Amino acid sequence: MSEEQQQAENRKRPTTDEFRAFVAEDWAPRSQDRAGLTEAAARAAVRREAVSAAHRGERLVIPAGGLKVRSNDSDYVFRPHSAFAHLTGLGADREPDAVLVMEPLGGPDDDAGHESVLYFRPLAPRDSDEFFADSRYGEFWVGARPSIEDVEDELGLTGRHVDQLEDAVGKDAGQVTVRLVRDADRDLTARLDTVRTQGGAEQETLAEGDAALAHALSHLRMVKDDWEIEQMQAAVDATRVGFEAVIRELPTLAERGRGERWVEGMFGLHARHQGNGVGYDSICAAGDHANTLHWIKNDGDVRDGDLLLLDAGVEMDSLFTADITRTLPVSGTFTDAQREIHEAVVAAQAAGIAAVRPGAKFSDIHAASIRVIAEHLHAWGLLPEGVTVEDTLDTEHGQYHRRWMVHGTSHHLGIDVHDCALATREEYSDAELLPGMVLTVEPGLYFKADDLKVPERFRGIGVRLEDDVVVTPDGHLNLSGGWPHAADEIEAWIKDVQAR
Ligand code: GLY
Ligand code: MN
Repeated sequence: MSEEQQQAENRKRPTTDEFRAFVAEDWAPRSQDRAGLTEAAARAAVRREAVSAAHRGERLVIPAGGLKVRSNDSDYVFRPHSAFAHLTGLGADREPDAVLVMEPLGGPDDDAGHESVLYFRPLAPRDSDEFFADSRYGEFWVGARPSIEDVEDELGLTGRHVDQLEDAVGKDAGQVTVRLVRDADRDLTARLDTVRTQGGAEQETLAEGDAALAHALSHLRMVKDDWEIEQMQAAVDATRVGFEAVIRELPTLAERGRGERWVEGMFGLHARHQGNGVGYDSICAAGDHANTLHWIKNDGDVRDGDLLLLDAGVEMDSLFTADITRTLPVSGTFTDAQREIHEAVVAAQAAGIAAVRPGAKFSDIHAASIRVIAEHLHAWGLLPEGVTVEDTLDTEHGQYHRRWMVHGTSHHLGIDVHDCALATREEYSDAELLPGMVLTVEPGLYFKADDLKVPERFRGIGVRLEDDVVVTPDGHLNLSGGWPHAADEIEAWIKDVQAR
């Protein structure tokens, strides 16, 4: 008996035949109301067409993934694999163990397309033990899941019970090329590898074919359609609600102790309230913590006079997320040194955003921002003696400036905060920007408290400024363009929000 089973045994309640019969009877009929195809599902269908055309005659297997154990019989909140969400339109916490299979309707040389089938765990009948006894999937425990008819109505594809998956995928694995998104569901991957190698495939060839599919699906997300951009605008707007809730709390933070946690909780509350939750762990960094780029421990005090760097984003139910950073003076007013650094970052960000237009390269954004950063560092006398701005920008022998901004200026943003992560360098950094791409522009300056190369008045100050920007046919649209940027605007914002 496994430890998990043993544990389940030690709290087992008696299940009598009398109880089974009694719990199954006298429930009102299930509602037959169905809302029809969602917009998310309609958009997903268009994406599947593109995938189908690029993979003629191949069976494509895209799992949502399973529930992940947090400890013993408690699971983490479920989040579907991003490729699955993108190709089904299912977001939020849907659907653990579901698998999208795109079944080829013809061979590699014809354009017969694919039938999309969603294998999943449909709602169990009320006379099943699952109904009352299964704490992971049962209706008494986690609520009613959709039926096959519900899923077909909502998503516009064929629904089948997940029990039929392996036979359907493995039936002729020797003849049909089967490609799988491997990192979504490790158990399923192991089982399908066995089926496919038994069908005659080499493990190495399988892994290569699977990697090519994962890459294609990641790259497919790079250009967003108008609905996706609407989702991201909604995410940015919801994020502002969270930032303003934090701003209202600023005057209370010093006294509370562990103010960073309060900020994390306050933003998280609004993220859950407005959307599905946070799109990534919020970075709530006061004072010198801002110089730790991914400070998510958030266990520090917030002192009056500190800057609070808040890097946070709301993820909508569609899973599209915002990713915004503002660096806020806790007292409501920047000190001279804080302001000087902040305005250098503002200038660097403005230069980066100005570089966003179709035909420019992704890497041009960083080049524009980092030049302004380098100019400021040079003007402050922080670069080594005799090193010019051009010297430090030299990629072979320079790069001194990276001591104070080690990260890049931009990344693609979408369903993942670092979207399209499997795209190649040619498709990402070296690629030309296209209308519909969504990017962050987020330069920063980080002067650690123990950095003896910077003047004392700069030490312990870290600033980042981050907006979410869409490439448009004639330039760009800054989804957070209406937010405050300059120090004066930030101070006025704090005053205004706290007066409301
Ligand atoms: N918002 C965190 C990051 O972009 O890495
Ligand atoms: Mn970011």
